[in-house]
Amino acid sequence: MVMYERIVVLTGAGISAESGLGTFRDKDGIWTKYDLNEVATPEGFKRNPQFAHEFYNARRKVGREAKPNAAHLALAKLETEHSGDVLIVTQNIDHLHEAAGSKQPVHMHGELARALCSHCGASRQWLEDLTVDTACPDCGRTEAMRPDVVWFGEMPYHMEKIFVALSNCDLFISVGTSGTVYPAAGFVAEALQAGAHTVELNLEPSEGATLFAEASHGPATKVVPAYVDKVLGA
Ligand code: APR
Repeated sequence: MVMYERIVVLTGAGISAESGLGTFRDKDGIWTKYDLNEVATPEGFKRNPQFAHEFYNARRKVGREAKPNAAHLALAKLETEHSGDVLIVTQNIDHLHEAAGSKQPVHMHGELARALCSHCGASRQWLEDLTVDTACPDCGRTEAMRPDVVWFGEMPYHMEKIFVALSNCDLFISVGTSGTVYPAAGFVAEALQAGAHTVELNLEPSEGATLFAEASHGPATKVVPAYVDKVLGA
């Protein structure tokens, strides 16, 4: 078994599917029920902020009840037991990596449990509903509060840190993502450039499947613990 030093893990909605949180592009996925232009773009939010707030308020409520699954727990175990570096980069805005014990997952698409004031830029933990009347606790403005999540057309968070990690990693693991949304979908190419071994753990081959040196297809709660044990030499 090869010993890897620096591991980067990218996760997507598929890792939280078995915790009861919806994915986006599967047959009854979130984007088959909501028009992403209405709830996941700055223009949509501007057009109808209350509708977008209700979308995120509903997801925040479901997120509060959700529990981490064996895949989240396996990645937390990898972080604890692997002698080298492990960086978890997630596209997910849920908190299941943290609930599983992961120290500092990098939320490149932001976090549902945080709110941002688009007037003064203050971001804070926010577990309640947001409405157009919610006033910013910092600057007092109403109609400026939004979920601190990255919408289409906006710059994902922590890109510098992510690219530095990708250019130094020797193992890149992608879990539960369709590989359709950039920049995350391009991370495997960056890892390959760095000479890393690349592994896809997904229910089915993703759009980027051919770029991976190794794959294990099946539910994340099965394939992720199995692969983590393989890496830890269990
Ligand atoms: N186990 C493993 N993989 C699964 C499971 C499961 N139980 N269920 C679904 N999947 C896989 C699907 O096969 C699919 O490849 O998870 C992937 C989910 O893909 P998407 O729904 O496109 O979600 P994701 O890739 O995370 O979307 C990326 O798009 O809408 C934006 O910002 C949003 O972060 C999101 C981004």
